[in-house]
Amino acid sequence: MTQSHAAAGKVAAIILAAGQGTRMKSKLPKVLHQIAGRSMIGHVLDRLAPLAVERIAVVIAPGMDDVARDVAPHVTAYQEQAMGTGHAVRAAEQVMAGVTAGTILVLYGDTPFVSTATLARLLDRRQAGDHPAVVVLGMRPADPTGYGRLVIEADDHIGRIVEQKDASAAERAIGLCNSGVMAIDAQVIWQLLAKLDNKNAKGEFYLTDIVELAQTAGRISAYVEAPAAELLGVNSRVDLAAAEKLYQQQRREQAMLDGVTLIDPETVYFSSDTKLGRDIVIGPHVFFGPGVTIADEVEIRGFCHIEGATVARGAQIGPYARLRPGSEIGVDVHIGNFVETKNTIMAAGAKANHLTYLGDTTVGAKTNIGAGTITCNYDGYFKERTEIGAGAFIGSNTALVAPVSIGDGAIIAAGSVITRNVAADAMSVARGQQVDKPGWAAKFRELRAALKAAKQKTRS
Ligand code: UD1
Ligand code: MG
Repeated sequence: MTQSHAAAGKVAAIILAAGQGTRMKSKLPKVLHQIAGRSMIGHVLDRLAPLAVERIAVVIAPGMDDVARDVAPHVTAYQEQAMGTGHAVRAAEQVMAGVTAGTILVLYGDTPFVSTATLARLLDRRQAGDHPAVVVLGMRPADPTGYGRLVIEADDHIGRIVEQKDASAAERAIGLCNSGVMAIDAQVIWQLLAKLDNKNAKGEFYLTDIVELAQTAGRISAYVEAPAAELLGVNSRVDLAAAEKLYQQQRREQAMLDGVTLIDPETVYFSSDTKLGRDIVIGPHVFFGPGVTIADEVEIRGFCHIEGATVARGAQIGPYARLRPGSEIGVDVHIGNFVETKNTIMAAGAKANHLTYLGDTTVGAKTNIGAGTITCNYDGYFKERTEIGAGAFIGSNTALVAPVSIGDGAIIAAGSVITRNVAADAMSVARGQQVDKPGWAAKFRELRAALKAAKQKTRS
């Protein structure tokens, strides 16, 4: 590959996210609203990741520092005032300094589902022999109202893009619309954008005018088409819910195609980063928050809520279990109903089958945690750890007051409140002594009945 070819293949990207998103009715910038536990702009970054993009710049408005934090280490550029998409791209000129060859992709932060494959097609078209200065990603939405229309010249060449508000009746009849995504020749982008004006219906600097400007400069522009569903933009929380629904549908289908049984797919919710092995069975109404990895042959029964957890091969979870961040569930572990774990490591074969809270805890292999066991890990000020060895048996309704450790093979009697360390193979009981009084109950009933009868007699 020659030097110039290598340079032509280089890709940088600018993501526009300076719009206020007023229809979200939110103090959170629009692009930070989440789909499947990941910000919208995060989804865009995920789609770009496989393309080996050399630099990504996100254009934001003043006050959107939280977006800058979310997208770091990618750079951000501030657009002081929203004066149009062309003006927004120009705001990134300085942070793109040095990107002088190849292609600059322009994307929107509120259009999260554009696929990597589609972007690759756009880039391929950019590098074709006729050397287009601009390749626009087109779509044919059911209702084109509001979108810019692509005015085709011949084949896949376009002469200009006309915005809805500036379009004639004939132009409005065009079904092929601008999705907003473009691939632009890095060598000419800034000189073309320098020529933009705002003499149009909206009084904005339109990025779309770059097509006509390229033509004036003797360069062609082309388009590539993608399904409208990929180019769904989010403007309100109604759109956000529609985007979530679409994403979940695809994610469930992918999970099933990858070897996961979903008993009632519509009721299972994944995060964008959920990692699943094979031969997993997931029951109805299971929710995966961010940061979950599930290994092969795990069964997750209905109504579980799982986040920040790894579950090893063969484990059984639920029904009605809650695994919170820092849960590491080992091979063949059983976590049963109404069990909550947080920051807890369960070694292979350990069991906590009923009504238990394990926080900041290590549980050794094959240890059995009885029903109603609670680790008291918080004193209102500090969190403390509970260490339980292997092969131990914790009796039902035990409170383990951390910091405390239970040795390998130890047995804790039911109902104990354990405040001191227990040695390996010891038995500890820490509860009130049982006192037995033979015949006491019968005597008690006899006395009370007699007293009641006497009182009733005096009243009548
Ligand atoms: C734009 C396109 C239109 C296309 C449509 C697709 C232009 C002139 N029009 O129209 O052809 O069919 O998108 O959805 O490009 N933004 C900024 N700063 C600004 C203005 C916009 O960052 O000053 C960002 C917004 O946050 C948004 C994106 O650019 O992510 C698009 O802006 P928007 O105002 O929605 O453009 P449309 O009028 O919908
Ligand atoms: Mg728009």
